[in-house]
Formats: sequence, C-alpha cells, structure tokens
Amino acid sequence: MSFDSSYDVIVVGSGAAGLSAAISLAEKHKVLVLAKGTLTGGSTAWAQGGIAAVLDAGDTFANHIDDTMVAGAGLNRRETVEFVIENAPEAIERLITMGVPFNKDEDTLHLTREGGHSHRRIVHVDDATGWAVQEALLKTAEANSNITLLPHRAAIDLITGRHEEKFSGSGRVWGVYALDQQSGDVEAYTARATILATGGAGRVYLFSTAPRGATGDGIAMAWRAGARVSNMEMMQFHPTCLYNLEVKNFLITEAVRGEGGHLKLPPGVTGGGERFMQRFDAERMELAPRDIVARANDHEIKRLGLDYVHLDISHKPPEFVREHFPNIDEKLTELGIDMTKEPIPVVPAQHYTCGGVLIDLKGRTDLPGLYAAGEVSESGLHGANRLASNSLLECFVFGDAAARDIMARWDEFDEPPAIRPWDESRVTDSDEEVVIKQTWTEIRRFMWNYVGIVRTTKRLERARSRIALLREEVEEYYGNFRVTTDLIELRNLLQTAELIVNSALARHESRGLHYISDYPDMLDEPEDTVLVP
Ligand code: FAD
Ligand code: SIN
Repeated sequence: MSFDSSYDVIVVGSGAAGLSAAISLAEKHKVLVLAKGTLTGGSTAWAQGGIAAVLDAGDTFANHIDDTMVAGAGLNRRETVEFVIENAPEAIERLITMGVPFNKDEDTLHLTREGGHSHRRIVHVDDATGWAVQEALLKTAEANSNITLLPHRAAIDLITGRHEEKFSGSGRVWGVYALDQQSGDVEAYTARATILATGGAGRVYLFSTAPRGATGDGIAMAWRAGARVSNMEMMQFHPTCLYNLEVKNFLITEAVRGEGGHLKLPPGVTGGGERFMQRFDAERMELAPRDIVARANDHEIKRLGLDYVHLDISHKPPEFVREHFPNIDEKLTELGIDMTKEPIPVVPAQHYTCGGVLIDLKGRTDLPGLYAAGEVSESGLHGANRLASNSLLECFVFGDAAARDIMARWDEFDEPPAIRPWDESRVTDSDEEVVIKQTWTEIRRFMWNYVGIVRTTKRLERARSRIALLREEVEEYYGNFRVTTDLIELRNLLQTAELIVNSALARHESRGLHYISDYPDMLDEPEDTVLVP
C-alpha cells in the first residue's frame, strides 16, 4: 500500500471538465488527475456536433439564454444559464489559444446549427469536435509540470471524515480510494480539495451513445458520501443513433439535421419515403428540441413496428455532405452506406445525463472540500432537457469556475489528516464474474424497457422492485470479494438506476425529457425532485 498526499487538489476525470479544471488550477497548485482506463476514454473525445456560443453579430446572449430555457422546460436555474452563456465566448477563446482548429469560413469561425437553436452558433471541428478538444486539452495538461496525469485508476469511493485515523465522521472530503486497474491494488489519494469530473451515467441503459465507462461513478460516490443529487429523471435520448446490428452506439450528429437532413419513414409502410415531423412539431420540424424529436422517432417506430426511421441528407450535393461530415461519411462507407445517395437508418438512444450532483455557481457540492463539474453535475443549466452543444460548454465554464473558487479560498482548506488505508481483508477473487456481467445486462435492459423515453408509474415501480432485489446481491458481492472495475461499475450503475427511478416516481407531471403517461400534462409550477441522502 503506497500513500501519497503531496497533491493540493485531486481531479477525478480527464475529459473536458476535469482537464479544464486542472489547467486553471495549475496556475497555482499541484494537481493530480485520475482517469478510469485511458486518458481519452470519456464522452468528450466522442463529441461530434460542437460547442454553442454567441459569436455572430446577428445573435445575442438573450437569444441563447431563451433557447436554453425553452429547451429546459422551466426547470433551468436562470442565473446559471446566464453565467454559462455569458462566459461562452471567453471559453472558446481559451480553446483556440490551446490550439483547437475550429472550422472557418475564410477569417470567421464557421457556425453550424442544431435543434432548438434559433441561430447558427455551434463552433466545430468538422464532425469530430470532441476529439480535437480532448487532444488540445491533454497536450496543454501534459506540458504543465504542476499536473500529474494518472490513467487506469478507478475511483471507488470518496474519502470522508469516517475514513480518518482519528474518526471524525464529518462530511469533509479528503480525496478518493482508487483501484489501480493494472496491479489490482487500492490506494488512498488525498488532497485539500477534490473535483469530481467523472461524466454521465448513459450505460445504465441498454442502448446509449456514451462510452463503456459512463456508469455514473461520480454521482453514486457523491450520493454515498452524503451529497444531494437532482434531476436524475431527466435522461436525454438522442433521436439519431445509427441502427446497425454490429455497431450499436454510433451517433449521427444533430448537425446533419441542422444542415438540412430530413427524418422520413422507411419504404414499405403507409407514408413511406415521406417526412413525418410535421405531425409532432409543424413549425420547427427536424430542428425541434431533442426530447420532441426523440419521442417522435420512438412513436413512429413503435406505431408501425419498425426497426428504425430514416435520416436523409442525400438531396444535398455530395461534396457538401462529405465536406461537413467527413468522419460520419467514412464510418458509414465502411458499413456499406453511402449517405450522399441513400438515407441512414437511425433509432433513439440514451445520450446525456441532465441530472447529477447538485452544485452552485462555483461548482461547490453540499460536502466541504468536494466540487463537481461537467456531466456528473446538475448545475441548473440544462433543466428538464439539455440544448444541443451546451454540454461541452458547461464543462469548460464550470471546470474553470471550480478551480477559481478553490484558488480564491485556498487558505480555508486544511491539510488532509491521516487516513485509514483501504480494507484489504476482502482478498478472495470472485469466481462468478459472469454473474456481474449478467446483472449489468439485466439492469440495462429493464432500465431501457421500464424507465425509457415513455414511462408509466407501474413500469417505474416494477423497476424499483428489481433494483431492491439486485441491491442485496450486489452488496453481498461488494462486501465479500476483491474489488474489480466491473464490480465498482456495477455497484454504481445500480445506485444510479435507483436514483433515476426514485426521481421519476417523485415527479407527477410530464416535463421535458420526463414523459409519463399517467401524468401527461405539465404542472404550472415544477415539482422539486431533489434527492436528499
Ligand atoms: P467525460 O468526457 O465523459 O470524462 C469523464 C472522465 O471521468 C473520464 O476521464 C473517465 O475516465 C473518468 N472517470 C469516470 N469514472 C471514473 C472513476 N470511477 N474513477 C476515475 N475516473 C473516472 N456535447 C456537446 O456539447 N457537443 C457535442 O457535439 C456533443 N456530442 C456528443 C457525442 C457523443 C457520442 C456523446 C456520447 C456525447 C456528446 N456530447 C456533446 C456530450 C458531451 O460530450 C459530454 O457531456 C461531455 O464531454 C462530458 O465531459 P465530462 O468532462 O463531464 O466527462
Ligand atoms: C450531436 O452532435 O448531435 C451531439 C450534440 C450534443 O450532444 O450536444
């Protein structure tokens, strides 16, 4: 067991939020960044469409704020929306300084359009913006001697007062216990402040565009340590994930619709080959907010017993399509689909976790010493439905805000006390790894079937009973066997599933992403579904 407390701040996660925080903090402090798996394994590297910011003379902050509030269906916190949107141009400037090669039309940034946006305001790097951002942030962090990057460390739990040698039992957070995924050892990493930037929980659903590691670890860890969690029922489903029997989670960016793509019924059914969005949102059609388009696709697929609907941009010139979407075109070509000539089969899939660990405008959680930023958090920006391309933006703004608050309040943060080492008594390796995998699949399947795009109270209650049964089994595993990444993730996945179901059952209305047939209308005043541990 090695023990290192030489870092000032620990950042858990190396995506857009974690690295933004680390880079700002490194102006003054020594920062340790931990990542589960590789340093590029989060959602950030997979982002396609781009980043929303008011950069065009014909656009205003007020427009972007209104669009965000409309998409969020009255659940956003206005001060957060204003804070993030007003800081967006500066965040883009910082990325440009770090070398992100945003697309340009001659001397000005090229702005694309996505659903719910009243103006063109999405900066992008072709259709692979996330990869360019991840690379630039990583290069900047690697070049900074105040930042230590440690991949293959899966945080298990937050270290709090109950882990102190001289037990204080306080909620003060001192860092994390983390599994070295290569050696199998568990180490205690301590610091004066900790930032959770662990991303979302998409993999709690059977079909998701999110990477394998999006298992809600940060949300579950913060909840177990005593922090409030909110808006977990607001799970965003993207309308257009590729339907393919081999490739299950390839996103077809919303920018395809932004640049003129149409949703159509496939041939062979009444209305085959024709657009259908006029029946769901006659004014905005394919550019309606994501919840409306995803529900429309889901409705048509179920109504007609289809496997998918079509997304068609083949009416645009082939050079235009290839120039705007080179990576998607390449991937589809590999799979035998020519998007310049034929429609793309698409289905809705889980895409983004709007809820998370409740934070204030400085990224502070309920627990002293613990901050959160990015998809793990609920800052008030997205409300009941995230506006496209506002997520990366939130990561940059809140990663930096958390860092600035820590630097400003540095003298208030004590040195961590002596911490008890990880309990090494659970040395037995489980010979039932297969059970962990099966339970994981079971959770993802019932969450998809019972807690998906359209919900009912009965189905939610059914999901809750399943979770209660599995909880006993998983806790027994966790209590008796050596921890592995799969076991850590399964425990967190189950915890996150429970939070989603409990939030969904606490809301007696349909709002934004939460559609429940028993309560189809939206209440005048939204209910408060913040969960308190
Ligand atoms: P992530 O980038 O997901 O990073 C999480 C980090 O935490 C990773 O380093 C991971 O290893 C680490 N981690 C997780 N658990 C642990 C643990 N237990 N211990 C240690 N480390 C841990 N948003 C936009 O604004 N524009 C887009 O165009 C866009 N396109 C998208 C396309 C796809 C396919 C997907 C899935 C999402 C897209 N999003 C987009 C959403 C956006 O990419 C994410 O919300 C955002 O990147 C989240 O960043 P993050 O830093 O919060 O987390
Ligand atoms: C997309 O490119 O469609 C994803 C954009 C987002 O999730 O904000």
